Amino acid sequence: MERKGEKEEEDIVCLDGSFFINDNYQLAEFTFGSQVIKLLCLQSASTDFDLTGQLVWPGAMLLNDYIANNVKLLQGCSVIELGSGVGITGILSSRFCHKFVLTDHNDEVIKILKRNVELHASKENHNSRAELMVEKLEWGNSEQICHILENHASGFDLILGADICFQQSSIPLLFRTVKKLLEVRGQGQCKFILAYISRAKC
Ligand SMILES: C[S@@+](CC[C@H](N)C(=O)[O-])C[C@H]1O[C@@H](n2cnc3c(N)ncnc32)[C@H](O)[C@@H]1O
Repeated sequence: MERKGEKEEEDIVCLDGSFFINDNYQLAEFTFGSQVIKLLCLQSASTDFDLTGQLVWPGAMLLNDYIANNVKLLQGCSVIELGSGVGITGILSSRFCHKFVLTDHNDEVIKILKRNVELHASKENHNSRAELMVEKLEWGNSEQICHILENHASGFDLILGADICFQQSSIPLLFRTVKKLLEVRGQGQCKFILAYISRAKC
């Protein structure tokens, strides 16, 4: 006779998470003003494991156009980006700023982010002025925020975010993280620029 527990065990299908991950990245070219950027990305991505960071979002296109038209804003600045995805904003900004820290919470996204940073550190693409650094940062994670602030004790002049406020539930933690980063500098010494294009259907 088959016992209930055995039947339930048989019904559990163990699927490796990597089975659902598409990492067939293609090299794509983007132009912002006079700046051309080639990087690896996908054209579509899954929201199931929050792999949204595998592609370039409209918010990043908006922010990068703004940066390309206002490069003075970045000159001499230390910058941190939240939810960097494939890193297109950091790669463009590093051509004008002093230091740029790219962050994301998703390990799969961090892998492609690091590959794109290496691609841009290579000789053929070496028109960066600032060093690009990648750090893991889940919004609201005090340990990770402290770790970043230990490594960058004087804080940042600028916090950037592109297309990172599409999920209502994560907004309080996002703003708590921004507040902690803003507090390191005196009032008005650090700015937060958030780029977002609403996709809400009315
Ligand atoms: C829509 S994508 C935008 C990526 C990139 N900024 C762009 O505009 O192309 C959102 C990004 O935020 C990251 N993200 C989402 N929730 C997060 C969280 N709670 N903590 C840190 N990063 C998060 C995702 O991994 C993803 O890279």
